[in-house]
Amino acid sequence: MVRPVIAGNWKMNKTVAEAIDFASRLRNALAAPPEPEVIIAPPFTALHTVAELLRGSPVCLAAQNLHESEKGAFTGEISGEMIREAGCAYVIIGHSERRTLFGEGDERIHRKLRTALSAGLKPILCIGETLQEREEGRMQNVVERQLKEGLNNLTAGDISRVLVAYEPVWAIGTGRTATPAQAEEVHRLIREWIAGRYGSEQAAEISILYGGSVTPKNIVDLMRQPDINGALVGGASLDVASFVQLVGYQTI
Ligand code: PGA
Repeated sequence: MVRPVIAGNWKMNKTVAEAIDFASRLRNALAAPPEPEVIIAPPFTALHTVAELLRGSPVCLAAQNLHESEKGAFTGEISGEMIREAGCAYVIIGHSERRTLFGEGDERIHRKLRTALSAGLKPILCIGETLQEREEGRMQNVVERQLKEGLNNLTAGDISRVLVAYEPVWAIGTGRTATPAQAEEVHRLIREWIAGRYGSEQAAEISILYGGSVTPKNIVDLMRQPDINGALVGGASLDVASFVQLVGYQTI
């Protein structure tokens, strides 16, 4: 059984003061260790402070991005080692906002993935089709291309440290969640693709998260699907009460 994962992606939200407030309240609310692995992804500026605050708590940290090089003349960029040292165990890679707004392609995303792995981070590889791609019947093609080029012959050992997040672009920040059946269809496809490349044992163990307008209202039905192992949540992760509800989805 894959341990469920609930991850909050704050995007470009919360100052350090706001992050401290959130993290302290989250820590208090999760006094008893929750069933899922809980991850929050604050902006870079708040990572270190939040990591200190959450030390000894069950909450893990993720960065929202990293640069594909180890170090050097890349003004404004952040390396895997910096992220790791700031207290992160995870890093989100290839979010659709990075792909569309910042022009990140599959090849670059793959390099980021390798850099994350060699820095000792667990990458959360985001994939997902646009509305147009879905309507044109290209969903499967797109998702498989993103998997193939994103993972691009990683070893089985590397794959065991990767999480995949299926985030249909049309569902992100739109309030239009994929139905549980729509999400499950793609999650199964992803798992089958992994099984084809890496074998059924790896496929059974990989965490495949769903993202796109997840809220405390729809999480329960999503998490009931056999191939949905967790959620990557944007908007609904910004409010502590709502995030705590998501983490405790089994009791909703
Ligand atoms: P959303 O964002 O929950 O606000 O739709 C999800 C994401 O972008 O990871």
